[in-house]
Formats: sequence, C-alpha cells, structure tokens
Amino acid sequence: MNGPVRYLSLVGALLVSASALAQGNPEQGKQLVMQGDGSGAPCMACHGQDGGGNNAGGFPRLAGLDENYLAKQMRDYNSGSRTSPIMQPNVDNFSDQQLQDIAAYYAAMPVPATKAPAADDALMAQGEKLALQGDWDNYIPPCSSCHGPDNGGMGDVFPGIAGQHPNYIASQLRAWQAGSRSNDPNNLMVAVAERLTDQQITAVAAWLGAQPASAAKGGK
Ligand code: HEC
Ligand code: HEC
Repeated sequence: MNGPVRYLSLVGALLVSASALAQGNPEQGKQLVMQGDGSGAPCMACHGQDGGGNNAGGFPRLAGLDENYLAKQMRDYNSGSRTSPIMQPNVDNFSDQQLQDIAAYYAAMPVPATKAPAADDALMAQGEKLALQGDWDNYIPPCSSCHGPDNGGMGDVFPGIAGQHPNYIASQLRAWQAGSRSNDPNNLMVAVAERLTDQQITAVAAWLGAQPASAAKGGK
C-alpha cells in the first residue's frame, strides 16, 4: 500500500497545488529579525548574521530556503505540529504576516558557504546512493525524487536539503521517527524517515551536507 507509486503520484499532486504567491516584505522582515519577537533571543544568535546556521549547535541554515516553506515552518512551531523547545519561544509573538516577512528576508539572502567536510568514502558512497537512487528493497525512494534533482528543493513544498548541516538533517529525520515533527503534508517524510536505519541517516546526512551550498538555490 505504501509503495513507490503512491509516493510519486502524491508528489505530483503537491507540486501542482504549490502555487501560493510569496507575499512577504523582506525589508520589514529584516527589522523583525534584528529585533526578535520580544521574548526570544535575536535570530542571528543561533542562525548567524549571514543566515548560515551552525552544524555543531544543530542550527539550520535559513538563507536561500524557499519563502513559503520557511513561513510554514514558523507557523507550524506556533501551532505545535512541529515542536522544538529551543525554537518555539522565538517566533510565538509574531503575526502570520510578520512570519511571511521574515521568511521573505531569509529566502532572498545569498546562500553562504556552509559545505560540511566529506566523511569517509564508504559512508559518502552509501549516502549518495540513498540520496540519488534510494533503497527500493526497503521502499525508500531517492531523496531527489521529491527534493529535486540536485536535492536543492522543488517549489514551496519540498525544501532544499543539499548543503544543509548534517547534524540538523539527522536531527530532523530522527524527529520524524520519534513523532516530534509531524508537519509534513500527507506524511510524506515520516514514511521515508521511519524506514531509514540510524546508520543510513548518518550516511545520507553526511553526503547531503557535503554538497555545494549553491545547489540549494535551485529548484524554483
Ligand atoms: C536559541 C537558538 C535559536 C534562536 C534564537 C532562533 N532559532 Fe530558529 N531554530 C533553532 C533550532 C535549534 C532549530 C531547529 C529546531 C527543530 O529541530 O525543529 C531552528 C529552526 C528554525 C526554522 C526551521 C528551518 C527549517 O529548515 O525548517 C526557522 C524558519 C527558524 N528557526 C527561524 C528563526 C527565526 C526567524 C528566529 C528569530 C526570530 C530564530 N529562528 C531564532 C534555534 C534558534
Ligand atoms: C515522497 C517525498 C519525499 C521524499 C522521497 C523525501 N522527502 Fe524529505 N521532505 C519531504 C517534504 C514534503 C518535506 C517538508 C515537510 C514540511 O513541510 O515540514 C521534507 C522535508 C525534509 C527535511 C527537513 C528540511 C528542513 O529544512 O527542515 C529533511 C532533512 C528531509 N526532508 C530529508 C530527506 C531525505 C534525507 C530523504 C531521502 C532519504 C528525503 N527527505 C526524501 C518529502 C520527501
């Protein structure tokens, strides 16, 4: 019932429906990012001045991600379908329009060089295979079938994951497995994550993180 055909037809349907227009004002967004929401720390304390995030801290790069994807994530923290005790307090006082403005600001930022160093050859080869070919024996489609040919993102539903920090990628896959992130449309991501072994998570996160960050700008 959960075979590859089902995934791929859902992906097509989501891409067709992903037509919402970006409406944020990046200048307003910049102001809000500088100020914070009044209760949390300023965004750059964790996500960096350049929006590049930080691997050791588990802070994702935001620069260059799709505007509507980013806005959705912040609304999801506020609604509780995505939980993070670290992130939640930072955006809970913003209105939906303010979240859209902040998203527009980060989406327009140039992608800084955050490429992770390559891990050992065997791990990288395993990660590359999962990302580009999947593991059909275990019903795992290639990440690129949804996240775009270079995993740089497709439309506003499928975020760029190439050049994202490995620790962050791994933490999100484990969050879907544990149920603390359940905001993916049609459970598309949980269905992938729950089939991955811990070792596969380490491999695919290492490979994706080592891909050029510039690939993350594509996919529009
Ligand atoms: C104390 C550190 C910290 C601060 C301050 C912070 N964040 Fe975050 N942010 C995180 C962490 C950690 C995550 C990943 C949490 C998770 O696992 O869901 C995250 C995730 C996000 C995401 C989701 C990214 C994605 O790829 O899905 C967005 C968007 C975001 N933060 C925006 C902001 C904005 C805007 C601000 C300032 C108003 C801010 N953050 C302040 C730590 C922080
Ligand atoms: C069937 C489609 C599909 C496939 C295949 C897929 N993903 Fe996803 N993925 C999604 C969707 C949809 C989202 C966005 C969920 C949301 O809106 O929060 C997502 C989000 C993510 C995120 C969160 C990014 C962020 O910025 O927070 C990571 C990490 C991720 N996927 C990794 C992977 C990896 C690794 C693979 C391959 C092993 C993969 N995905 C395969 C659909 C897919």
